[in-house]
Amino acid sequence: MNIKKVAILTSGGDAPGMNKLVYTCCELLKDNNIEPYVVIDGYKGLYNNDIRPANMWILETNANVSGSVIYCSRFENHREEAILKQEAKNLKAAGIDVLIVVGGNGSYAGAKCLIQHGVKVMCLPATIDNDINFTEFTIGFNSALSAIVDTIDNLNMTAKTHGNVYLIEAMGRDCSDLTLAAALSARVDYIVTKYNKLTDEQYLKIINEMKTTRRSILFLISEKIYDDVAYLTHLRKYLEAETGIPTKAHIIGFIQRGAKPTAMERFQAWRLAKYCVDNILKGNLNVAVGIKDDKELITPLLDHDFKKHRSDKELLKMIDVINNKKSNK
Ligand code: F6P
Repeated sequence: MNIKKVAILTSGGDAPGMNKLVYTCCELLKDNNIEPYVVIDGYKGLYNNDIRPANMWILETNANVSGSVIYCSRFENHREEAILKQEAKNLKAAGIDVLIVVGGNGSYAGAKCLIQHGVKVMCLPATIDNDINFTEFTIGFNSALSAIVDTIDNLNMTAKTHGNVYLIEAMGRDCSDLTLAAALSARVDYIVTKYNKLTDEQYLKIINEMKTTRRSILFLISEKIYDDVAYLTHLRKYLEAETGIPTKAHIIGFIQRGAKPTAMERFQAWRLAKYCVDNILKGNLNVAVGIKDDKELITPLLDHDFKKHRSDKELLKMIDVINNKKSNK
């Protein structure tokens, strides 16, 4: 296959490091005499036919900042037959030979649907959630983790000064990787994930046990494990009333997603982009690109499920290490 034009899009929630992936892919494609194109606003832009030649000046200027300069969207209708047909038609009309999809496991599933419509794709892992198989980490995870750890470090200082209880919520969908890695990197007293969800009374019991040996108590809680978004506010009021200890709630949220890409993130993004372009040149298409055991690898998209599930046992062991540690007064 003689590849002349390759387009790239970013999809789903943005992730720090996406811009580095996009810029590096386009730059390396150009170096190999392939015309780089960008699709503005993810799959939605593909459907609306917003496919443009890559503006290298804009991509280079923004390569090391967070967000996605070519925009992302959540396009729920993407997997409908008529929409997919139109998207494939738009790519064909623009003469695009290969589409690079940068995103999370939902974006990968979307890419697989395009393969069924004759589109050749490559997938690059980018989501803060780290919930993709066949890669050890996703682009965005490292930067989001650093943002959570920085926030916890700051909260620890003020919490200890005042002897407060803090309920801190970290983003990361239903994958516990961010919460867990942050809890092991920063100092928290208790971690709560979907694997060890607590009731109001259990929180109270833990505080009552810990307050004899600790001045401040920090809970790090994964987002989306309680049905009600107002749960943290309810819990904060309940615990403060029952214990008499000032109790604060802090949602880190989108600050994580908009974090500045760390140096490691940029470096890994470069490696992934390079391997992606190398494989396009070799004609290895319809694959996902990842890094495992410090080696780049490709995995055929159609043969695998890319949504990562860790074993409960493995996670609970790590959670126990944090939750059963001794006094820190
Ligand atoms: O998948 C990335 C992510 O930031 C998740 O951690 C979070 O649950 C979700 O996106 C938030 O999505 P939205 O931006 O649509 O509110």
